[in-house]
Amino acid sequence: MEITPSFVFAICIVQSLFIISSAQTCKNNTFPSNQVFTSCSDLPVLQAYLHWNYTPSIKRAHIAYRASQSPTGWVAWAINPTGSGMVGSQAIVAFRHSNGSMAVYPTPINSYNPSMQPGTLSFPVSNISATYADNEITILAVIGPLANGTTFNHVWQAGPVSSGNPSMHSTTGANVQSMATLDFLS
Ligand SMILES: *[C@@H]1O[C@H](CO)[C@@H](O)[C@H](O)[C@H]1NC(C)=O
Ligand SMILES: *[C@@H]1O[C@H](CO)[C@@H](O)[C@H](O)[C@H]1NC(C)=O
Ligand SMILES: *[C@@H]1O[C@H](CO)[C@@H](O)[C@H](O)[C@H]1NC(C)=O
Ligand SMILES: *[C@@H]1O[C@H](CO)[C@@H](O)[C@H](O)[C@H]1NC(C)=O
Repeated sequence: MEITPSFVFAICIVQSLFIISSAQTCKNNTFPSNQVFTSCSDLPVLQAYLHWNYTPSIKRAHIAYRASQSPTGWVAWAINPTGSGMVGSQAIVAFRHSNGSMAVYPTPINSYNPSMQPGTLSFPVSNISATYADNEITILAVIGPLANGTTFNHVWQAGPVSSGNPSMHSTTGANVQSMATLDFLS
C-alpha cells in the first residue's frame, strides 16, 4: 500500500474522532442512596452504560446497568460465561408494569426464543432492583462469585413489553451489535 499524505491525514482525523468520542459520558451518571461505582463503560449501542465495583477477593461485582427505554419496553444485561452471543447468556431483565411498579429478575437465555420468565442463573445474583426515570431503566444487582478471571463476554438488549411480558427484540442494527468483552479490573 502506498502511504500518501492524504492517507496520513485521514488517519489523523480518525484518531482525533476517537479521542473526542472516548470522552466517557457514564462518569456523569449518579445513583440513588449514595451508591457510588468506581468504574464505568459507555456501551457502543442502545444508549446504555455499565457501572461496577468489583471485589477480586470474592469475585463479586456490584453492577448498575442503565439504558434508554420507553415506559412500555424492557432492557436486559447479561454475562455469557459459555459463548459470546445471546444463547447461553445469564441475564437480568427489567421493565415497568402498567401500574408503574418495576419488574426485575434473573432469566437465563437458553435459546433464540427464550421464555424471558424468572429463572436461576449459573452464578449467584442478589440485591436486585430497578428504577425508571427520565426514559431510562436502571438495573442494580450484585453478581458472583463469578468464574476465575475478570474478563467476560457481556450482552445487552432492549425490546417491547407485550401483555405484561418481555417480547422479541428487533433482530437488525444495534440490537444485533450489542455484545462486547468486559474486564472488571479495567
Ligand atoms: C459531565 O459533567 C461535567 C460537570 O458538570 C460537564 O462539564 C460535562 O460537560 C459533562 N459531560 C457530559 C459528557 O455530559
Ligand atoms: C403492578 O402490576 C404487577 C403486574 O400485574 C403486579 O405484580 C404488582 O403487584 C402490581 N403492583 C402494585 C403496587 O399494584
Ligand atoms: C445486599 O443487601 C443486603 C441486605 O439489604 C445488605 O446487607 C448488603 O450489604 C447488600 N450487599 C451489597 C454488596 O450491596
Ligand atoms: C479457580 O481458581 C482456583 C484457585 O486458583 C482453583 O482452585 C479453581 O479450580 C479454579 N476454578 C476454575 C473453575 O477454574
